[in-house]
Amino acid sequence: MRAVDLDAYVRDGFLVLEDFVSQSDCDSLQTRAAELVARFDPGPVRTVFSARDQGHARDRYFRESGQAIHFFFEEGATDQPVSLALNKIGHALHDLDPVFDRISRRPQFAALARILGFEEPLLLQSMYLFKQPRIGAEVGWHQDATYLHTQPSTVTGFWLALDDADRDNGCLMALPGAHRGPLRQRFRQVGNEMVTEVLDPTPWPGIEPVALEARRGTLVVLHGLLPHASAPNRSSRQRHAYALHIVDARADYLPDNWLQRPGLPLRGFT
Ligand code: FE2
Repeated sequence: MRAVDLDAYVRDGFLVLEDFVSQSDCDSLQTRAAELVARFDPGPVRTVFSARDQGHARDRYFRESGQAIHFFFEEGATDQPVSLALNKIGHALHDLDPVFDRISRRPQFAALARILGFEEPLLLQSMYLFKQPRIGAEVGWHQDATYLHTQPSTVTGFWLALDDADRDNGCLMALPGAHRGPLRQRFRQVGNEMVTEVLDPTPWPGIEPVALEARRGTLVVLHGLLPHASAPNRSSRQRHAYALHIVDARADYLPDNWLQRPGLPLRGFT
């Protein structure tokens, strides 16, 4: 395992680790995603996932995706073929697909989790993110702990660039150091509804956002409280990425998180 600048992670709330994953593993993930898409029959339900419209949350298809491999479309992408219209695939690729399982559990990920302080890491959620040419939508500023909360907060994102990601095709943006602020919101289940609850109205600090440009194979580690976003893809180049979220089993996983897996117990890296 390479040296990891933990001081920088504590200071900034993110790490950018170049060449963390081999080009052949990136190939395998992209090829496998293309196979899954080719086999996918959208049928009558072209479930839209939009970061701006929480209406999807009422959709059973979304809720059940926590323990399944489900497909979500870009909003308004009705004219494109499926392979160019998807926003993402989620959220249990790492447990249900053998290729995603194998690569998500590579020793370098387990070692990195250990270095970051995880004692009992659990692989909670995986997403294949398309950010399609021209139509890939923006993702607004948010903290991942809003969506996946443990007490204390342990959620951490491993975001792997499967294409070169830059300002033009919607790379990640972050507010360095802002992970030391409070969790602002929780997206949680209340009765049969999913609601976004404001916990703390403190605005994002007035820090200049940084663009986390990442060549293919680069892993970006995101602290669960770090405000981050990504711009729309206005370029003609796709910006595929694979995101894996882990939590520590020592923390309490809250029963009102949207993602519940009654039929598929969480596993670690082994
Ligand atoms: Fe995020």
